[in-house]
Amino acid sequence: MKTNKVQNHCHKQQKKNPMALSMKPFIVLSVAVNVMLFMKQFSWSNEQMDENAKGVHLKEEKMRVSSSAVIDDGKTPIVLDHGDPTMYEEYWHLVGEKTTVVIHGQQGISYFSDASKVCWFLEPQFERAVIRLHKVVGNAITEGYHIVVGTGSSQLYQAALYALSPSDLLEPIEVVSEAPFYSSYPLITDFLKSGLHRWAGDASKYDKDGPYIEIVTSPNNPDGSTRQPMVNRSGGMLIYDLAYYWPQYTPITYPANHDIMLFTISKCTGHAGSRIGWALVKDEAIARKITKYMEISTIGVSKDSQTRAAKVLDVISDSHVHKGNFDGISPFFDHSYDHMAWRWQQLREAVNKGKLFSLPVFPSATCTFSGRTFGPLSAFAWLKCESEVENCAEFLKQHNICVRDGSFLGSSSKFVRISMLDKTEKFELFIQRLSIMNTAIA
Ligand SMILES: Cc1ncc(COP(=O)(O)O)c(C=O)c1O
Ligand SMILES: *[C@@H]1O[C@H](CO)[C@@H](O)[C@H](O)[C@H]1NC(C)=O
Repeated sequence: MKTNKVQNHCHKQQKKNPMALSMKPFIVLSVAVNVMLFMKQFSWSNEQMDENAKGVHLKEEKMRVSSSAVIDDGKTPIVLDHGDPTMYEEYWHLVGEKTTVVIHGQQGISYFSDASKVCWFLEPQFERAVIRLHKVVGNAITEGYHIVVGTGSSQLYQAALYALSPSDLLEPIEVVSEAPFYSSYPLITDFLKSGLHRWAGDASKYDKDGPYIEIVTSPNNPDGSTRQPMVNRSGGMLIYDLAYYWPQYTPITYPANHDIMLFTISKCTGHAGSRIGWALVKDEAIARKITKYMEISTIGVSKDSQTRAAKVLDVISDSHVHKGNFDGISPFFDHSYDHMAWRWQQLREAVNKGKLFSLPVFPSATCTFSGRTFGPLSAFAWLKCESEVENCAEFLKQHNICVRDGSFLGSSSKFVRISMLDKTEKFELFIQRLSIMNTAIA
């Protein structure tokens, strides 16, 4: 299959660029230019920064700038197909030992955490850290909710489908989401060819009567748009996937209070490798069924991972609560917002250089957490190939840029999804190459 071939080629290891060493003068120049651009973009200097914080911002800038000393030969494969959040390594490197967790040999041996809780394998310190962070950010209500921990929000998605699917239907219940949607939803929903549920595609085209499940992803993967339920019919059940409802990606406009809400540390803190997500569930019976799914499939969720996740979430809360007294390091969501804003500005500039590509534009809003007014800074770029290019992924592949074909996301091959959360070095290479393509092919 053609698409498989694209994926294989695109999964080749990236090689270091041999040109980088032999072109020192140019590198120095490019670094200098980058510093200037960067300083220009953020007029932190007067408004937001006291003297103490300035040193750290410089340290943070230097990390970003030093990594840009790469000259593009146009050949190095740039793989931005997955939403691997390695961008966050920079911040956690700055934070250093604060997030180190020591787990002793006798710790976490039991299957159980608190047998009296609906979610009996939920570590109390993880639960406390989740509640605290939602309070600090104001992005979700936790009072009156049951918290269920999962092996990533991917497992919670499966568990929520299981919990919502009526067991007495003759046919599997249909599951929909408005296109473009996260490409894993159809894969996960139909993976085991369950008799309980089946994928039915784009919610905006769904016109059947009877019960259904709708996934509302807000902000949306891939385009970052704020989403509402689409089908609005009486037999509907809703799962809100709020993986990106954090202030580095979108303005927080209200504390979310839906019946079932999924969150994950993967996109909040960047610790995708810990595989930790959580569901906030209003109804106790549903929370019990979601827990049941975890019980049957994996007998709970790693306590080691919950312990680590609790620490990381607490450090984020601390960085905001003890702002200015956090070893001079900017609070997590300030740092990550600045970085996302910088990346989006780079991308929009590269796209605006020519007529090859376009990006969606969504309205701005004021964030109740930061007070800033801004439009979505999506974790993915939903890029459209303009002109006569019909297969945008193929077109970019010719330039050794590997991204996800829009047809996997319920849309067309005119679109591609590009990760905005990879390492700075790779991101800058991508921007360089996109700019050159866009100016060369007028
Ligand atoms: C909308 C959405 N939900 C869920 C996930 C999966 O997250 P996790 O790593 O917690 O399984 C992703 C990952 O890309 C996502 O984009
Ligand atoms: C369903 O309601 C939302 C507002 O909550 C609206 O934006 C959407 O267009 C509605 N869907 C349809 C099919 O009318």
